[in-house]
Amino acid sequence: MRRRSVKFFIDTANIDQIKDANDMGMVDGVTTNPSLIAKEDGEFKQIIAQICKIVEGPVSAEVISLDYEGMIKEAIDLAGIADNIAVKIPMTIPGLKAVKYLTAEGIKTNVTLVFSALQALMAAKAGATFVSPFVGRLDDLAQEGMGLIEEIAQIYANYDFDAQIIVASVRSPLHVLDSALLGADIATIPYDILKKLASHHMTDKGIDAFMADWKKKNG
Ligand code: G3P
Repeated sequence: MRRRSVKFFIDTANIDQIKDANDMGMVDGVTTNPSLIAKEDGEFKQIIAQICKIVEGPVSAEVISLDYEGMIKEAIDLAGIADNIAVKIPMTIPGLKAVKYLTAEGIKTNVTLVFSALQALMAAKAGATFVSPFVGRLDDLAQEGMGLIEEIAQIYANYDFDAQIIVASVRSPLHVLDSALLGADIATIPYDILKKLASHHMTDKGIDAFMADWKKKNG
């Protein structure tokens, strides 16, 4: 298992959520996708540019073309927004070709919609910077999402691939804990889950007791 520190990306295109999480020191990067962008007001490239100004780490912006030429055109356009853009490319055969080309051009890529270890192996061989297995959507099918992360981490360690694993489609704090235990490089976390990670009822109970004791003495 590789020894790197686990990074937290935030899985949202909402500027207020990104700013708040960034102020907590919890944003090593941002991932977006067309569904997340569709929830926000504003134009796609402007939203991405705004995020890139707030966050130093990689910001994933997804192409919507499905053909090779379209993906390349969009990717070059997106990469021009800021130095920290990682272009999100779907895990398809034209997508693999696009990753190979973009990597040679020095453009960071994030291969998305990965649901098997062999897809992750191909993405790494094509030269992907990041690979995003969707654990929550596998859990939805009664398949162990985190089992896939374990397989990919083992394969990448076997062959010293540079591709970083982004645990995506995170649905619970347990997914984040398991990501760290399994040695995944990154978990991309929705804002509401990030807040859940920080809270514990014993912390709240302890604060209430301290405040009550303080008031008893000091009024
Ligand atoms: O990063 C991918 C993620 O946004 C997908 O999550 O919950 O739609 O499966 P979900």
